[in-house]
This record gives sequence, structure tokens and C-alpha cells, in this order.
Amino acid sequence: MKIPYSQAAQHLGSSAVREILKLTQGGNIISLAGGLPAEETFPLEAVREAYAQALSVDASALQYGLTEGYTPLREAVAARLTAQGIPAGADDLLLTTGSQQAIDLVCKMLLDPGDAVLVEAPTYLAALQVLGSYRAAIHAVESDDEGMLPDHLERQILQWKAKLLYAVPTFNNPTGATWSRKRREQVLELCRKYGVLILEDNPYGEIAFDETPGARPPAIAGLDRSSGGESIVVYTGTFSKIVAPALRTGWLVGPQELIRTVAKAKQAADLHSSTIDQRALYELLQRFDLDGHIRRISREYHARMLRLASGLRASALPDAAFREPAGGMFLWLALAGHIRTAELLPYAVEQGVAFVPGEVFYAAGPLHNTMRLNFTHTPPELVPLAISRLEQAVAQYDAHRRTEARA
Ligand SMILES: Cc1ncc(COP(=O)(O)O)c(C=O)c1O
Repeated sequence: MKIPYSQAAQHLGSSAVREILKLTQGGNIISLAGGLPAEETFPLEAVREAYAQALSVDASALQYGLTEGYTPLREAVAARLTAQGIPAGADDLLLTTGSQQAIDLVCKMLLDPGDAVLVEAPTYLAALQVLGSYRAAIHAVESDDEGMLPDHLERQILQWKAKLLYAVPTFNNPTGATWSRKRREQVLELCRKYGVLILEDNPYGEIAFDETPGARPPAIAGLDRSSGGESIVVYTGTFSKIVAPALRTGWLVGPQELIRTVAKAKQAADLHSSTIDQRALYELLQRFDLDGHIRRISREYHARMLRLASGLRASALPDAAFREPAGGMFLWLALAGHIRTAELLPYAVEQGVAFVPGEVFYAAGPLHNTMRLNFTHTPPELVPLAISRLEQAVAQYDAHRRTEARA
């Protein structure tokens, strides 16, 4: 029988790139493709103790729980956010099954088919998938080194009557870029002026390479919530990159009315996130120096990023251009204009290295010569080999193109 998929399912899409990347699991391939944190940095012992503690009281850690999330953990997350300059109480906050669920549920509650949503170009692939599944009309806003360009943002808001703006303004996935404070203020002001909600996705903000106080610009949600006006920013964060992704715990902060509405959607989706995972995280926060841990992983990731960056600079990759990210997990690389990285990928996999071609991160009009490289997961000693395999792949790709041109 032909399966009668919904329109939403048809808009989820599957790409040739994803099929090729499936081949890169395991084996001899060095994958710079996945968005994975380094397993050897996971606080395994502390997590083990936290689960033991959560299970030691009574059996309630195995019971159904509140849709909004385990109250002590909500309070603890709200206190952390407040200390980071995003004033929030437990009632402003919903715990979700990863920040991915937060993005999905917000879009589900806000978007009707055809609603205009503004995004960065490039932007987070799985957010594009979510927006596609709700059949949003996705429009890109141009950016420079400081973030979205206010003039273009204003034109796009007016032209498309935008309802929502989705952005990853700090240590972006895929580009690693971070918006300046000024741009954040300008974007917030424009969105307030025209009544556009902002969905600020911040999974990487705490993984900062510069430890100087004040080096990191404030979250847009912080500027929004400290301004005293009506809040227009919905903010999502996660324990995935600062503790471990398998705990599948993220949070959503926003106007209480929206939080209550999204909680209803969450009830329909999964009743609540795992009770035991949330209780273990609460126990972890009580007995483990999470901030010290974040400083340690940030230093390790910084060293790994520098190693990748210096390897790329010394490489023979044609016209390799990139900016060193100031945090997060990704480096965005552009090669010579003639190289289409989606076509380069099979050559790379053949040589034993993988990356994500830049084109998948664009809703439209991709820059084909770009790629996303993850620097956190690959053991640093393998980076030189990964780069030489990439050089080989480019050489073969170019040789093949020359043969085709002659034929
Ligand atoms: C920009 C961005 N948002 C959201 C997520 C989802 O993370 P999680 O659901 O693990 O919290 C990711 C994961 O890589 C991401 O890169």
C-alpha cells in the first residue's frame, strides 16, 4: 500500500547528503560531520552518583511527573539563567526533551501554513526541518560579522509580514559566529516595533573560549527581559552540550501565557520529559561543580579548535577561508568558488573523512563551496590526518572535473 503521508511528513524531506553521511558511522572514517560533544569529557562518575542519589530516596523518580517539568529542577535552571542575566522564575520556564522539542513545540503553537519566519542564512538544519514540517514560508535575513543586518531585517519583516524570527546568535551552528551586543539590541528593537516574536536558540552560549567577564554579549532574552517592556523573546537552552545529550533535557523560557500554551502541546506530545533524567540532573546540580566543568570543557574545545584552525591554515586546500569561532563546536570553512562541497563529499568519504556540506543549512540560495566542520568530537591527534585526507579528496575531485571537461 502506498502510505498516505500528511503534508507535514512530505515537507520533512530527506537529503542525499544525509544518506552519504550515514555511511560515515564507524569504520575508518574520521568524521568532522556530527555535532557531537567529546565523550571523554562527560562527567560520568558524577552522573552515575546523581542517578544513584535520585533513586535512593524512594520510587517516585520512576513515576509520571508534571508536564512543566520537575519543580526543583525548574527552580534551579531559573536561578542559573537569572545569574546569567536572563531573569526568570520557575513559572516562566518549561523543561523539554532537549531544546529540539522546545523549537518544535513553539513552532507548532505559533505557525500556520504559509506564515513567514525569518532565519539566518545559513542556520541550524533541524530548525529548518521543523519550520518545513509546519509549512512555514522561510525567508533569510542577510548578516555580516556582527549579526543580522538591521536594514535587511526591516525590509524582510515588512515584505513578508514576518511572524517569527529564529536565530542562534551565540556561537552559531553551523557558522560559529556571534552577534555583537549592538546588533542584538537593534534586532530586538525592530522586532518589538513590528510585533515579531524572536525564538533565540542558545545551546552553545556557555561554551565560550574567552573567559574574561563581559567578553560574551548578553542573550537577546536577557536584554528583552531586563528592559521592563512586554517580553517578545522565547529562549531555549539545553544540558546537551554542557552535561551530556543523552539526558535529553532542555528548557524554554518565555511569556507565561506562551509557556502555558506550549505546555499543553507538550502534554499532547509526550506527557512530560523523563522523570528520572530530570531528578538526576537536579541531584547533579546539587553536588557537582557544573560551572567548573563547563570551564574545563571550554578550554579543551578551544585547544581543539585552534588545532583544526592551524591545520587548515597550513593546508593546501584551495582558498581555504574561515573565522575562528569564539566558542561552541563548529568552524565554517569556505573553499575555492568552483568546489561544490556536496559533490566533494563522496570523494572525501572515499578518502576516509566526512564533513557536512554547507548547502544543507540554507533554506534557499546556498553557498555551495562551504562546509561545517565539528572540532569537539574527533581526537585532536587525528586532525592532521583528516586534513590531509580532505586535501586528497579535493585533488581527486579537481582531477575528475578536468577529465570531464576534456571529454
Ligand atoms: C542550534 C541547535 N539548537 C538545538 C539543538 C538541539 O539540541 P538538544 O535537543 O540536544 O538540546 C542543537 C543540537 O545540536 C543545535 O545545534
